[in-house]
Amino acid sequence: MKKSTFGQEYGFQTRSVHTGNDIDGETGSIRRPITMANSYALPYDPTDVNWSDAGKALYTRNSGANQLYLQEKLAALEGSEDCVVLATGVAALSGVFFSMLKSGDHVVCSHVSYIAVYRLLTQYLPEKYGIEATLVDTSDLSAVKAAIRSNTKLIHIETPGNPTLNISDIEAIAQIAHEAGALLSVDNTFASPYNQRPTSLGADLTVESLTKFINGHGDAMGGAVLGSKQLIDKIRAEAMINMGGAISPFNAWLIMRGAVTLPLRMKQHNENALKVAKYLEALPVVSFVSYPGLESHPDHEVAKRQMINGYSGVLSFGIHASFDKHNEFVSFLKVITSAVSLGHDESLLVFLGPDDERQYLYPEKFHHGFFRFSVGIEDAEDIIGDINQALIKAGLLQEI
Ligand SMILES: Cc1ncc(COP(=O)(O)O)c(C=O)c1O
Repeated sequence: MKKSTFGQEYGFQTRSVHTGNDIDGETGSIRRPITMANSYALPYDPTDVNWSDAGKALYTRNSGANQLYLQEKLAALEGSEDCVVLATGVAALSGVFFSMLKSGDHVVCSHVSYIAVYRLLTQYLPEKYGIEATLVDTSDLSAVKAAIRSNTKLIHIETPGNPTLNISDIEAIAQIAHEAGALLSVDNTFASPYNQRPTSLGADLTVESLTKFINGHGDAMGGAVLGSKQLIDKIRAEAMINMGGAISPFNAWLIMRGAVTLPLRMKQHNENALKVAKYLEALPVVSFVSYPGLESHPDHEVAKRQMINGYSGVLSFGIHASFDKHNEFVSFLKVITSAVSLGHDESLLVFLGPDDERQYLYPEKFHHGFFRFSVGIEDAEDIIGDINQALIKAGLLQEI
């Protein structure tokens, strides 16, 4: 049997290890190699070849070998019919919007979403293409329903949302979208398929930034959209073949390797983040902690229902301190690195100052600047110890 096609009949860990990999037919190596070619040999008579054919190794912008292997693995992890991998998570998101929408259409989107989505939907798509967008708090189902118009073609949500960890109910919003004749796309980057599989909850499209948890090692960029063959074929034709958002074979190979350990890493991210969230919540200097795994999160019950294995590795928190004290605290950290991105093996923390352009969309507690913290897979005690010693050095916590 071809291991590369292991599907839902096998467990998530088995699929993570085997699907997409197989014995290489030419060398017999038990790892499929990186195929750094941008073109593939044509048949004897190429007159019948469709130059825009996808899914056949012809030209790497149509589909090269390593992209195909990665697509196989990701579709098996999500449990979706098809998958297209692209150069970045943003290429995947813009692929959804440009392929699914046309002038005169309307989109409803989570008001807390990745910054590029915010800009695409509030600037580029309305100004250049006459596509309208309404941003709402999608954790409030009545707000989602109220935002629907006769020309609504897509609802796009991000859950958990970046950077405030808002939770939206995928199943309920899928129902609202379908009753309105619209599609639902879900950015699943913060959860990863280990913790949440939106298409199994009724979403039409799942978007992943592969740059984050799925690759997990902070050394490659990629994006994916998953769903039915019919929708994915359209995105593949438009976003990859004709708009050129193809991933490099090397990045596809790196992400393929990273994804093998996704379940093991996610278990550790889930466990560490919950410990860190509980530790932070108990500190008087901490003004708030937003983590879907905490009972204090307003949508903990929804998260519990749809996040099957845990609440993932990202949280946000604030401290009662001056602007400069925030930076001083960060400067004392030794284990945790101050850098953007998330879902890497190492802990990454970013101070989102009060000048974020979307600030008016956040509730009061986020207004004074806060930290987005991607909790890594180091020892939880070392992560907590690092925060503790940096707070003490910054004079924000007393040594006991
Ligand atoms: C939720 C979410 N979606 C999409 C992206 C974009 O991914 P990429 O950086 O791979 O383009 C990010 C990046 O931080 C993200 O946090």
